Amino acid sequence: MPARTLPRRAFLEFLGIGIASVLVAQCFPLKQKKEPKISWKPIPPSDLDRLELAVGYRYELLIRWNDPISAYDHFGFNNDFMAFIPLDRNQLNDGFLWVNHEYPDARFISGYFRQNDTKKTREQVDKELYEVGGTVLRVRLEHHKWHVVKDDPLNRRLHGLTEIPFNWNEPIAGSRSAIGTVGNCAGGVTPWGTFLTCEENYDLFYGERDFESGKRITYDGDFEWHQYYDYPPEHYGWVVEVDPRTGAAQKHVALGRCAHECATVKELPDGRVVVYTGDDANDQCLYKFISSTPSSLSEGVLYVANLDEGRWIPIDHAQQALLQKHFRNQTETLIRLREAAHLLGGTSLDRPEDIDINPVNGDVLVTLTNNLSRGNYTGSILKIIEKDGKYDALEFRSETFLTGGPETGFACPDNMAFDPAGNLWFTSDISGAVMNNEDYPQYLPFKNNSLFVVPIKGDQAGQVIRIANAPTGAEFTGPLFSPDGKSLFLSVQHPGENTPSPDQVNSHWPDGGNSIPKPAVVVIYGDFTV
Ligand code: FEO
Ligand code: CA
Ligand code: CA
Ligand code: CA
Repeated sequence: MPARTLPRRAFLEFLGIGIASVLVAQCFPLKQKKEPKISWKPIPPSDLDRLELAVGYRYELLIRWNDPISAYDHFGFNNDFMAFIPLDRNQLNDGFLWVNHEYPDARFISGYFRQNDTKKTREQVDKELYEVGGTVLRVRLEHHKWHVVKDDPLNRRLHGLTEIPFNWNEPIAGSRSAIGTVGNCAGGVTPWGTFLTCEENYDLFYGERDFESGKRITYDGDFEWHQYYDYPPEHYGWVVEVDPRTGAAQKHVALGRCAHECATVKELPDGRVVVYTGDDANDQCLYKFISSTPSSLSEGVLYVANLDEGRWIPIDHAQQALLQKHFRNQTETLIRLREAAHLLGGTSLDRPEDIDINPVNGDVLVTLTNNLSRGNYTGSILKIIEKDGKYDALEFRSETFLTGGPETGFACPDNMAFDPAGNLWFTSDISGAVMNNEDYPQYLPFKNNSLFVVPIKGDQAGQVIRIANAPTGAEFTGPLFSPDGKSLFLSVQHPGENTPSPDQVNSHWPDGGNSIPKPAVVVIYGDFTV
């Protein structure tokens, strides 16, 4: 319906303008001229199998799992982090969209169902290998709507069989390259026009090395790929850089090996870069890499945060006697980053996930999702204030920016994004095991996972406002604003995660009817910068 035919109330709601604020303005005409008040209208929590949006927003499906992107390739599973790089600086509405594919769900990919007590076959594992990694998509804004340019020659996949070299001067576990990238959770963008994708829960694919015995450790409920492929665990857990123009990729050893959630890059005035990254596991640490030369992710020093002392501690074998006692060299130190970080006094945090830098005031925010082992159910968002506002400072202050819980109305913050006005948007990651589960009453008030905004100014400044609810079992991930700030790309990951069996799915999102659930990317349109 054209906007001008809407009744006034509906039209205001369509614009996201609160009726109450308009009525207040009409009843109390102010002597001094006041800007018209615009506000976000929150929606209540929901446990329905729907993607719900606040008044003033609508969404369109951009692409879903298994949709073809070229004659050879299709869109992978469990889409997560997204980033956009325009083809050309003067044409911001046409470019590369990177999308991570974090992990497979065999029930939908190959029909394998663990409870049948059968072993996963090599053929089933091979199907999963293709579904992880990432996708480069050419996307374009046409007629006010974003589209995938189907069959564009720039569309491509990286996956579990793509050979990727290490950017390092020594072999890693005997090899100069790795086969595949896995666990691709969040990431970043470099100032020189490449994407960073982070290998998070890498040990679920090929296990981990017990460094005392040299044996592979595997876990109940992992993806069982190690049964058929003997790739070294040391080849995973890195930050991977991808050039969307060529598809060339490299694994950056200098950024260390852990369950990297993200790699958030800030360019310094002299062209050097700082990269913030968190290790998403209970009691793990926050890191930053400071390059010593411009535009480098290999030359520089990696630091771990000590929050009590407000210090960034160098993880440098050459200058740390403690590291020399435990590790043979810098390569081994970086492979065993967690141990090195704790030896040096890195602060244990409650699952440091996404990190974002406010483009308006420069704040560095870090989501601390939760830590059930410490009784922290609902998590928080941490603020890092670098000394003198310099991102390469070695001293900082920190404070809690927001705390999850019934009072603030959110739990388990995960991915964040800032809109061009500096409002914070973030998604929640209440895990499927505890969401809407009577055994975990701490989570019941929040229902399904959601998307929130925290306005930076105005009457709602600092409030946590629920803007979208995810379908059953899903998590919103990878929020990404288009360059003009008018569209929000959002991943809907693992709908129907708690499906009891492949023929009894508990979500039919996005296709409805009797369809199986499919992870998908949506684009939300509306007013994001009120
Ligand atoms: Fe893949 Fe830490 O979320
Ligand atoms: Ca995440
Ligand atoms: Ca982010
Ligand atoms: Ca998460």
